[in-house]
Amino acid sequence: MIEGTARGRSASRVDRFTESVIREMTRLADLHGAINLAQGFPDFEPPDELKEAARRAITDGFNQYPVTWGSPRLRLALAEKYRRFGWPELDPDTDVVVTCGSTEAMASTFLALIEPGDEVLFPEPFYENYGPDAFLSGAVPRTIPLTGHSWQLDVERLAAALTPRTRAIVLNTPHNPTGRVFGDDELHAIAEIAVRHDLLVFTDEIYEHIVYEGAHRSIALLPGMGDRTVTISALSKTYSVTGWRVGWAIAAPPLIASIRKVHDFLTVAAPAPLQEAGVTAMQLPDAYYEALRDSYRERRDTFFELATESAFDLLLPEGAYYAMARIGPIRERLGLEDDTAFCRELVSRAGVAAVPGSSFFADPADGRDLIRFAFPKRLETLRAAAERLTEFAPR
Ligand SMILES: Cc1ncc(COP(=O)(O)O)c(C=O)c1O
Repeated sequence: MIEGTARGRSASRVDRFTESVIREMTRLADLHGAINLAQGFPDFEPPDELKEAARRAITDGFNQYPVTWGSPRLRLALAEKYRRFGWPELDPDTDVVVTCGSTEAMASTFLALIEPGDEVLFPEPFYENYGPDAFLSGAVPRTIPLTGHSWQLDVERLAAALTPRTRAIVLNTPHNPTGRVFGDDELHAIAEIAVRHDLLVFTDEIYEHIVYEGAHRSIALLPGMGDRTVTISALSKTYSVTGWRVGWAIAAPPLIASIRKVHDFLTVAAPAPLQEAGVTAMQLPDAYYEALRDSYRERRDTFFELATESAFDLLLPEGAYYAMARIGPIRERLGLEDDTAFCRELVSRAGVAAVPGSSFFADPADGRDLIRFAFPKRLETLRAAAERLTEFAPR
């Protein structure tokens, strides 16, 4: 134990959030030797050509600091890939910054573009990182509940939440944790509000290629949005390399210039050889994305079919690789106080780790009867998990 006067003293901005519950659940899964359906990472390998490209990049000497805002080759490859998927021409020199994952892209965006006291709106439930992003940048988070079983965005509520201090809307589509893929009507309505009230939109599109129902649309491409949208994504999910820590933000040059400044002093750069391997990722053919989507659809459908044997009430996602489950009746039957107690019981007794729903809500009570499973796993892992869930809580 280290003794000293500075012990236990932290800055007040840090006291406003807790350690990540998702990553805590991963630690518990390891402790109990459980199947980890908590944290969203694959238990299978990335494509061989990416692993080979990463090895080659190290051998070829990409081992020192790269250009701080991203390898020129990766920025060019990103611009070409976005063009292939329907975007207008991006200038790799002014419109892109490569970051340490989309986590850093979002944090740097908040720090670069939000004044302390500015209000930021986000649909709720929301990916747990956005809360700390807001607190670290001094933003005041305001949540807009997604409504009904299909998690619709209530645009009138969004408009009603605006104040003179509102500066930005944070969007995530396809959405973690609900799996919503926001529709054209919702995106147009958000864009209209953003343009009318001169707001920024930060959109996290890390699951852009994992869509089962409907189609992914980038709000940046809607009228009036090009200059006010920061589009964030990463290699992590699309290429099954969550540990590589390579992501990016795309926006108009004045926004990117500010984000680059923050990024430079926070992390300097994403890992150089893995950025080079990212060029190979960007050049994978369209068939790669089709196979990715089909393989995730198979995982989703297998897990859902097997889990019908259990009492977990799973909500079918339209995209991303998570399934929310309603657990109210099981929780009450087992006499467990809330979703966190439920997840602790589930990991220790059933050997399956999930995330308590409360981690995705500002008020924990709103997530009390929900948990989230992640299914980027081999089919045999999902089969074993579904069996354990059924044994724990049969239908
Ligand atoms: C919506 C969303 N954004 C960002 C991340 C983290 O992305 P990265 O690994 O690129 O930092 C995750 C990971 O689960 C996520 O679900």
